[in-house]
Amino acid sequence: ATPIAILISGRGSNMQAFIDAVQAGELGARIALVLSNNPDAGGLQRAREAGIDTAVINHRDYASREDFDAAMVARLREAGAELVILAGFMRILTSVFITAFSGRLLNIHPSLLPKYPGLNTHQRALDAGDSEAGVTVHFVTEELDGGPPVLQARVPVEPDDTADTLAARVIVEEHKIYPLAAQWYLEGRLQLSDQGAFLDGERIPEGGIQ
Ligand code: GAR
Repeated sequence: ATPIAILISGRGSNMQAFIDAVQAGELGARIALVLSNNPDAGGLQRAREAGIDTAVINHRDYASREDFDAAMVARLREAGAELVILAGFMRILTSVFITAFSGRLLNIHPSLLPKYPGLNTHQRALDAGDSEAGVTVHFVTEELDGGPPVLQARVPVEPDDTADTLAARVIVEEHKIYPLAAQWYLEGRLQLSDQGAFLDGERIPEGGIQ
């Protein structure tokens, strides 16, 4: 099984989906490390309960984003991580980190990218009167939430939705598509090149596979 690392900042429900997928035999990976910038991240406890090594690298302990990123890169290399999964990791990464794991770094973002990069995605979808919302798994490049999409899932927006009810509908889809995209990578089917993301040698279309 390929060693992977998962980076979290919060409750870690996507991380839990990876733990469950490994336990179910659906993911050819070993979770070598769960790393958080936030010592209070709820997901750390969930990881420990699953017997997974955890580490905290607190961004507040570093003078610059680059120093923080270099510390994380060192820890991830020590863990032997061959794929890095950003799962609700809420720090902006610099090129120090992104170049170290280029092509081996996936993120999940709770919008139909390229719509709504950044924060408050569900409220922004509601404010815009969108009839659907969703989530995107994408390769991470230096452009914030702008790397090539791999996989996208859509949900309807209901008339009386709040950001919370919409988020609850979207997260169900997150937990399905993120381990699936990772499994494609682990099977050697998914690649990043200068031309974009490729699955089985075919360029993945703009919004990702639907
Ligand atoms: C998820 O909805 C994820 O898509 C989002 O944070 C949540 C984390 O939940 N990520 C971002 O907004 C990245 N900018 P989780 O900790 O339960 O997986």
